Amino acid sequence: MSKMLVVYYSLTGNTKFIAEAIAEAINADILELKPVKELDAESGMKYFWGGFQATMKKKPKLKEFEINPLDYDLIFLGTPVWAWTFSPPIRSFLKKYNLSGKNIALWVCAGGDGIKSMNRFKEALKDTNINGEIRFKEPKQNAPENAKEKAIAWAKDIIQKIKN
Ligand SMILES: Cc1cc2nc3c(=O)[nH]c(=O)nc-3n(C[C@H](O)[C@H](O)[C@H](O)COP(=O)(O)O)c2cc1C
Repeated sequence: MSKMLVVYYSLTGNTKFIAEAIAEAINADILELKPVKELDAESGMKYFWGGFQATMKKKPKLKEFEINPLDYDLIFLGTPVWAWTFSPPIRSFLKKYNLSGKNIALWVCAGGDGIKSMNRFKEALKDTNINGEIRFKEPKQNAPENAKEKAIAWAKDIIQKIKN
């Protein structure tokens, strides 16, 4: 696998935790999506505003970045679950880049099981080659070392599968 990229958004660090574990283990580039206007991660109001943005399918403006995701052969894409779907910055990213035909692997971090949001995430990426999917329950708080190992094994499996 020549070029691999880990793309993610994270408000409270769970998705970031998994992203960094994967990127380091497989030696991939990493791209953190950051909205120009970020919610206050410390405030309880984040549930209201974040849930509203996600439900309304908002696509917040992202801070600029240097990386061109279309240059990569395999993209790991990770998001927190907001209001039973993927997060608004990921929606902005998917609008900006047409990933049709790309090799993709998806993960979500949720407070619950994340099943519904994973289905919506896959639906939004149905024109891509989805090579794998995995869900985590707030991995930074719940057995982080296990979650990290699980994420790394998952990512390595995908790379192996694509090679063969
Ligand atoms: C605005 C908002 C909405 C959320 N909605 C859901 C939800 O619908 N279902 C769920 O299981 N977890 C929900 N959560 C919990 C997050 O998905 C969970 O804490 C996740 O691990 C956060 O990832 P992060 O730390 O990378 O931001 C929500 C969190 C926020 C901030």
